[in-house]
Amino acid sequence: MNVATEQLLLCGDIEVLGLIPYSSNYTFLARVRQDRSETLAVYKPRRGERPLWDFPEGTLAAREVAAFALSEAAGWHLVPPTTLRRDAPLGEGSLQQFIEHDPERHFFALADERLEDFEVFAIFDAVINNADRKAGHVLEGRDGRLWAVDHGVSFHRHRKLRTVIWNFAGKPLSPGLRADLLRLVDELDGGRLRARLSELLRRSEVDATLARVEELLLEDRFPSPAGDRDLPWPLV
Ligand SMILES: Nc1ncnc2c1ncn2[C@@H]1O[C@H](COP(=O)(O)OP(=O)(O)O)[C@@H](O)[C@H]1O
Ligand SMILES: [Mg+2]
Repeated sequence: MNVATEQLLLCGDIEVLGLIPYSSNYTFLARVRQDRSETLAVYKPRRGERPLWDFPEGTLAAREVAAFALSEAAGWHLVPPTTLRRDAPLGEGSLQQFIEHDPERHFFALADERLEDFEVFAIFDAVINNADRKAGHVLEGRDGRLWAVDHGVSFHRHRKLRTVIWNFAGKPLSPGLRADLLRLVDELDGGRLRARLSELLRRSEVDATLARVEELLLEDRFPSPAGDRDLPWPLV
């Protein structure tokens, strides 16, 4: 299912339908079609990216794809299939499967019902160094499956972790999460994930990702707030 969607996003014809309301960058809803398959997608053209002081210009779309690749390699499958398209209507950009969801069912609403399902989100964000885990960057699909979106400002070399998911701070890692992190060490230390991320990020950013995973394993705990700018704004 995922492979088919990824393939469709990689090769399908893209039709831009319009801007997604309330998005901070130029974020578009698009329809992607090939033969008899079609899907809605979120399209973020590189040239719509607002310049940021701390991230190199024009790199946010690639970071979206890198987050998908890492989530897949870890076996977490948190990020909807995301690809980089050079031939998209408004120029090169990321294309991510659109997940139908109720915007009211964001992290703060869901945490009351199923907090334990967010442990893996907390570790994922620590690994990718996500600087923008707002509550609304967690989506609940119609089938109840949880998804993580908006990873344009991740993979910075220096600590930038800004998230609303601090519920597990300081808690020991479960054996399952440790096993996932060990798999990531292999993948990032010369494995396929290193090769993929090297196409999308700077070498120093790939190295820093491996260093974060190793540090998490060493600490054996969920990260704690560092005291300065630990929350995204706005929170939702
Ligand atoms: N894959 C997706 N499926 C469905 N809705 C999405 C998806 N990605 C983003 N959105 C919606 O669009 C909004 C803006 O997208 P986001 O990725 O946060 O872009 P921005 O960089 O503009 O903040 C999100 O808050 C969310 O409501
Ligand atoms: Mg956003």
